[in-house]
Amino acid sequence: MKNNNVDFSRLPAHIAITMDGNGRWAKRRFLARQAGHAAGAQNLRKISEQMNTDGFKILTVYAFSTENWKRSDDEVAYLMNLMRDYINQYIEDSKKNNIRINVIGDKSRLDTDLRESIEYLKRLTLNNNGMTLNLAINYGGRDEITRAAKHAATLAATGAINPESIDEKLISSYLDTAEFPDPDLHIRTGGDIRISNFMLWQFAYSELFYIKKFWPDFSYNDLLEIVADFQKRDRRFGS
Ligand code: IPE
Ligand code: IPE
Ligand code: MG
Repeated sequence: MKNNNVDFSRLPAHIAITMDGNGRWAKRRFLARQAGHAAGAQNLRKISEQMNTDGFKILTVYAFSTENWKRSDDEVAYLMNLMRDYINQYIEDSKKNNIRINVIGDKSRLDTDLRESIEYLKRLTLNNNGMTLNLAINYGGRDEITRAAKHAATLAATGAINPESIDEKLISSYLDTAEFPDPDLHIRTGGDIRISNFMLWQFAYSELFYIKKFWPDFSYNDLLEIVADFQKRDRRFGS
C-alpha cells in the first residue's frame, strides 16, 4: 500500500500491538461483545497480511492476557474458539501464505486440542520467510519473567549454570521472545494508556503510541501513519 510518509527501506524490525476496544466497538453498534472480537480477529488477519506484503518482519499481538480468564465463562469460551478458528484457518491457508506463526505465553492452561493445533501450525510455518506473527495467548509479562526466573533457578540449583553468570542477556534468552529483538514500538488501540501486563521486560526502550480508535476500526493506513511518526522520533536509549 502506498503511503508517502513512510520510508519502506527502514521499517521498524518489530511492532507490538495491544488490540484493545473490541467490546466497546460492539457496544456502540448495539452488538454483543463477541461480535467485536470476531471483527477484531478479521482485522488482524487483514492488517498482518498487508504488513507481510509490504515487508514488515515481526508483529506481536496481544490476543489474550493471563488476566483475561477473569471474564465471563461465555466470553472466555468464545475467545478460545475464535483463536482455535484463527489457527485452523492458518493451517488450511499455510501453503499460499508465507507468514510464520509463533505463539508466546503459557500454553499449559490451554485446551489440549488448541495446544496441539498451535504446535502443528508453528512447525508447518517454521520455514516461511515472510513476516513472523507472534500471537500472545495466555500471555502476561510478569508470568513470563517469573517462568524465566524459575528456569534460571532450576539450572542454578542443579549446577548447570553459575548464579554469577545470570545477567540480562541470559534472562532474555529464557523469555518466550528469546529469538526476537525487543519491539521498536508498542501500539495500543482503544484509548486506554496502560500496559496491562504486556511485554514488561521487552518494552524497556519501545516507543509508545496510544490511540483512541477501537481495534476493529484500526486500519493499515493508521498503522503506516504511526510508523511514519515513529521514523521521526529520536531514540537515545539513555545516551
Ligand atoms: C480486546 O478487547 C480483546 C481482548 C482483551 C481479548 P476488549 O474485549 O478488552 O474490549 P474493551 O476494552 O472491553 O472495549
Ligand atoms: C489488554 O486488554 C489485553 C488484550 C488486549 C488481550 P484488556 O482489556 O484486558 O486490559 P485492561 O483490562 O483494560 O487493562
Ligand atoms: Mg479491553
